[in-house]
Parts: sequence; structure tokens; C-alpha cells
Amino acid sequence: MTWLLTSLLYSLFVGLSLGLCALFVSEAEVWYNIPEFNLLAKNITVHCTSDEEICQLVTGEGEINAASSVAALVHSGIFNLKETYFLTAGIAGVNPKVATIGSVTFARYAVQVGLQFEIDAREIPSNFPTGYFAQGSTGPGMLPVSIYGTEVFELNDNLRHAVANFAKAAHLNDSADCQANRELYKNFGSNATNKPTVVLCDTVTSDTFWSGTLLGEAFENTTKIFTNGSATYCATQQEDNAVLNALLRGALTKLVDLSRIIVMRTASDFDRPPANETTLASLLGPTPGFPVAALNVRIAGVKVVEGIVAEWSTRFARGIKPDNYIGDIFGSLGGEPDFGPGSIFGGKPAPIPKTCP
Ligand SMILES: *[C@@H]1O[C@H](CO)[C@@H](O)[C@H](O)[C@H]1NC(C)=O
Ligand SMILES: *[C@@H]1O[C@H](CO)[C@@H](O)[C@H](O)[C@H]1NC(C)=O
Ligand SMILES: *[C@@H]1O[C@H](CO)[C@@H](O)[C@H](O)[C@H]1NC(C)=O
Ligand SMILES: *[C@@H]1O[C@H](CO)[C@@H](O)[C@H](O)[C@H]1NC(C)=O
Ligand SMILES: *[C@@H]1O[C@H](CO)[C@@H](O)[C@H](O)[C@H]1NC(C)=O
Ligand SMILES: *[C@@H]1O[C@H](CO)[C@@H](O)[C@H](O)[C@H]1NC(C)=O
Repeated sequence: MTWLLTSLLYSLFVGLSLGLCALFVSEAEVWYNIPEFNLLAKNITVHCTSDEEICQLVTGEGEINAASSVAALVHSGIFNLKETYFLTAGIAGVNPKVATIGSVTFARYAVQVGLQFEIDAREIPSNFPTGYFAQGSTGPGMLPVSIYGTEVFELNDNLRHAVANFAKAAHLNDSADCQANRELYKNFGSNATNKPTVVLCDTVTSDTFWSGTLLGEAFENTTKIFTNGSATYCATQQEDNAVLNALLRGALTKLVDLSRIIVMRTASDFDRPPANETTLASLLGPTPGFPVAALNVRIAGVKVVEGIVAEWSTRFARGIKPDNYIGDIFGSLGGEPDFGPGSIFGGKPAPIPKTCP
């Protein structure tokens, strides 16, 4: 089964599946229509094609919604997700130094830039360029000391290249309003003013919907610091690290294959104002990139899904072998992360607690 996880309002997940687990229906149904409580009052939305090859989960927005929805899916027991490709597909803000509105980005790294100390900028010491600094550190520019585990995820770069090539065949949408908006950013160079393209660049997560030159630069720095210089701050959004942590936990117990995860974000708005506008006016102003980015989620996403399905038996069923480290900052799936302080498990996979018989 291919599951598409779309995060703005939708999360699609794409996977060629082995179908539904036969046990679930009767085990689930004993809980329905009972006087004590109503489990059918709210349904997490899952939509599938009739052959159950392609399904969509709508996660809801923000880190809590995203993590809970994906965790619920992974651990529901309803789907066999062991060979499933997940495509997280949503819109995002974009760094004009790296890409432009309407563009389609594919990430190797996801960095949780919001997980930091923060003091209000009006109370910062005069030598601090920003109020954000890593947890456990004493000021901006330093590595985190107190690590929670969700700060950075690294994904399969070979898979990323393969699916970005599928997406490059898409005829991306654009508009005159977008082009006019890009022209305001011409001081950032051609990455900001070009027509939409497929770009390989990284994704950054925070529940806070930030905007502005200073916060943009602060999180560019955070992205570099958290990944030892490897990641490029490009797509800004509120879900990816949450989705990835829920999938990582699934991978720890072999319910999910973390080498089959794709994070695609299309750019709907710039993360900072153009030269002649205030940050507030830019944040609250029109977002001509929104309809174009939303369309391009589908236009590029369909190519990715079709590409995986078309080459399922010859290529994707057995998986695309990664040549890079994949996993979290702790090294939970085994191997040595190329960022952070190193595996806390000595390069071996994290020990899995025994399950009840
Ligand atoms: C949830 O799904 C069940 C079973 O399909 C349905 O009976 C129920 O009406 C749904 N609940 C809502 C709130 O849509
Ligand atoms: C444009 O973005 C690419 C990354 O996609 C980067 O390598 C390059 O330096 C950027 N160009 C400029 C002028 O900033
Ligand atoms: C973008 O999509 C709109 C709405 O479907 C359409 O009118 C327009 O022609 C498209 N533009 C391009 C460049 O594909
Ligand atoms: C980003 O890092 C550079 C280099 O350390 C520093 O000069 C700059 O002030 C930082 N910017 C922000 C906004 O934190
Ligand atoms: C910024 O410049 C653009 C293009 O010249 C113009 O359309 C826009 O109104 C300007 N914005 C402000 C706030 O002056
Ligand atoms: C990342 O950089 C820090 C600081 O230079 C260093 O202590 C750490 O070992 C580096 N991690 C890796 C995996 O290279």
C-alpha cells in the first residue's frame, strides 16, 4: 500500500499493501454501540483506492495532531505497513535564498527548530542576535546539550533522488500573481525569482508559525548547528518531525520501514518579507503562492505515486537501499548519525522491549 501523508489539511500515504488484517473487524466492532462511550464519534480520516494500493490520511495541522494521527495509524493494526511508502505531502513557507513559491521540495533532513530555549527578543542580552538558543546551551550558535530525540531525522537520499526525478516530469502550476510576488525578492537572486522547479532541500518544523528576516536567519543557523552543517533550511512547516517521530517509533518495532519515507513540501509563501515591506505586513498580506502550492502538491505527488506504482515489482517492492545514515539523532535504528553527539546505542539498534505473548 502506498500511503500519502499530506499535512496542511491532508496527509496522504502511499503503499502497495498486503491488505487489511483479517482480525480487525470483529475485534474492533465489539466496542461499538455500547452505552459507556462512543468510539465512532470521531473518525480519523483514511481514504483508499478500491484495490487498497493507495491511501490517504489527513493528519490535522501542527505537531500534536500530526504525531497523534500517524501514531494511531501505525499502531492501529488495521494496515500492514511493512512495505509501505509514505509520502508526507504538504505546503510550506520557503527560504528565498534557496527556492521560490510554487516549487516542490524533497528533504533529506527534517530539523525541529522550534525545540529550543526562547526568551523574548526585547529581553535578550546585547550580544545575542536572537532570542532562540539550543536547550542546555548558554547562547545562540551552540549545540544542544539537552536532547529529546526529535531534533533531527535523516531520510533515504537514494529514494529522495528517485522520487524527485519522477516529480521533475510534472508540469508544475504557476501564476502571474506568483511571478509578481517573486520579483519583490530579486535581491535574493535567481532561486527566489525563477519559475517553480523541483528542489532538493531540507525541511524545518516548529509549532510556532514564524516569519521574518531575523527568525529566518536564526533558524538557518539552528538547521546548520543541529546537523553539523549538512542540512539546508528551505521548507518551513509545522508537522514533519512529528510525523517522522511517529514513523520512527513504528520502525523500532518493525511496523514501518523508515527507508521508505518521503517528505515533499511545496512552497506557498516566503518565510520573510521582501525588501520594501515589514514582517507583519508580509505575514498578514496576500499569499498568491497558496493555490499554486496546493495544486503542485497534487501535480508533483501524482507523479511520485505513479512512479512508485509503475516500478513496484521491478524496483520499489524490494526497497531502495540507502547509502546514507537514516534515522534520528539518538541512532535508534542502528548506525552512526552524521550529526549530533553520536549514537547512544553504540551503533546498534535500540533494544526493543519484549511484547506480551
Ligand atoms: C465513523 O465511522 C462509522 C463507521 O463507518 C460511522 O458509522 C460513523 O457515523 C462515523 N462517525 C462520524 C462522526 O462520521
Ligand atoms: C540556490 O539554492 C541552491 C540549493 O538548492 C544553493 O546551492 C545555491 O547556493 C543557491 N543560490 C544562491 C545564489 O543563493
Ligand atoms: C494553474 O492552475 C490554474 C487553475 O487550474 C489554471 O487556470 C492555470 O492555467 C494553471 N497554470 C499553469 C501554468 O499551469
Ligand atoms: C547566524 O549565525 C551567524 C554566524 O555565527 C551570526 O553572525 C548571526 O548573527 C546569526 N544570526 C542570527 C539571526 O542568529
Ligand atoms: C513594494 O514594491 C512593490 C513593487 O514595486 C509594490 O507593488 C508594493 O506595493 C511595495 N510595497 C510597499 C509596502 O511599499
Ligand atoms: C558534530 O559536531 C560536534 C561539534 O563540533 C561534534 O562534537 C560531534 O562529534 C559532531 N558529530 C558528528 C556525528 O560528527
